[in-house]
Amino acid sequence: MAIRQIRMRDDEALYKKCKTVVKFDEKLGILLDDMYETMQKADGVGLAAPQVGILKRAVVIDVGMGKIEMINPEIIETSGEQTGNEGCLSFPGLYGEVTRPNYVKAQAQDRNGKKFIIEGEELLARAICHECDHLDGVCFTSHVTKYLDE
Ligand code: NI
Repeated sequence: MAIRQIRMRDDEALYKKCKTVVKFDEKLGILLDDMYETMQKADGVGLAAPQVGILKRAVVIDVGMGKIEMINPEIIETSGEQTGNEGCLSFPGLYGEVTRPNYVKAQAQDRNGKKFIIEGEELLARAICHECDHLDGVCFTSHVTKYLDE
């Protein structure tokens, strides 16, 4: 495993629509392992492939309930609402208030291509929304209603 460089703020990789993953090969596994290690080292709860410069639809999440890997994720159901402070490893030191659904149901594939369904509430729901946004080139800054003073 290796730590990859996290793309910051104005990096164009953060603003592009990512491609569907079609090859579930060893290279994808290495990418996911590296992303998880990079996220942990940076003390984050989620990381999307474009944040390490790879424009593919892959994310890793760990909100303290174990590692979740989602390939080609799609949010299929949401409900409720939560408003809270959000940050992003690509925007160190920047936090702002973002409203997200309180419950999210998503479908995705694992690193072997097997489909699964995941449901999350609160922080997990927020993380799924945040990371899925990254795959469409959307950063949390476009949802912030109020920035926190540092
Ligand atoms: Ni982010």
